Amino acid sequence: MKYLIANWKMNSIDIEEWKNEFEDHYKKFKDSTEIIVCPNFIDLSECSEKFINFNIGAQDVSSHSEGSFTGQISAKQLLGASKRLKYCIVGHSEARSNGDSNLIVREKSEQLRNNKIEPILCIGEAKDVLSKGKRESFLLEQLNSYFETGLYPRLIAYEPIWAIGTGQAADQKNIIEALEIISNFLESKKLEKIPLLYGGSVSTENIEEIMSLSNLAGCLVGNSSLDGKEFARIAQKFRRC
Ligand code: 13P
Repeated sequence: MKYLIANWKMNSIDIEEWKNEFEDHYKKFKDSTEIIVCPNFIDLSECSEKFINFNIGAQDVSSHSEGSFTGQISAKQLLGASKRLKYCIVGHSEARSNGDSNLIVREKSEQLRNNKIEPILCIGEAKDVLSKGKRESFLLEQLNSYFETGLYPRLIAYEPIWAIGTGQAADQKNIIEALEIISNFLESKKLEKIPLLYGGSVSTENIEEIMSLSNLAGCLVGNSSLDGKEFARIAQKFRRC
C-alpha cells in the first residue's frame, strides 16, 4: 500500500470545486494507493461526506481528553465531526514551532490511541541542525521520545523543515540518509513495517523522482494539494510509481 496525503493546513478550500477538479483528472480508485485528505477542523464533516473514496485525517488534536482548554479540540470531538476520521497528524514542525514538545506530541498520540485514531507522526530537522551534522541525533531524539512509552504511529513522515513551503524539495541523497536513520531505528525496535513517507515541497515536477526511492511508501503534500487539479496530477503520477 502507498499513501498520498493532502495537508491543507489553514487554507480556505472550496471543497465542492476541489472535488470536481480532482475527479475530472483522477478517475481510478481501485489500486493500492490510499489517498488521505487532512482538512482543518471545521471542514472535517463536509470532507467526510463528500470524499467517500478517500480516508480522512485531522491536522491536530488536544493532548487532553476534556475540560477547560480554550480553543482546543479533543480526539473524541474529532470523531464527532467525522465518523470516518481515520488519521491525525502529530508532531508537524508547524505545530512543534507553536509549542508542541516531544512530550506533548506523545500525549496527543495517547489521546488518539484512546479513541482509535491512527497517528501520522512527522519528524524533521531545521537547516542549522543539518548543517551542523546533528541530524541523526535530532531525529533519534524525536523517535526515542515517541516510542519510549510503547506508542506506535501508523505512518512516519520525514519532513525536513528546510524543505517545507520553499518550493525546493530535499534531494534524494538527503531523503535516503534520513530514511536510513529512521529505518535503522525501527529495525532495532522490530517495527520495520511502519511505512515511511516524505513531505516538503512535493509537486507534479518531483513526485516521480521522490517516489523512485526504494523504501519510501508515500508523500505528504502541502501547497500542491490545495488545488484539486494539481493534486490529481500528482496522484496520477504517484499511482504509477
Ligand atoms: P509543502 O508541500 O507546502 O512544502 O508542505 C509540506 C508539509 O508540511 C506537509 O505536511
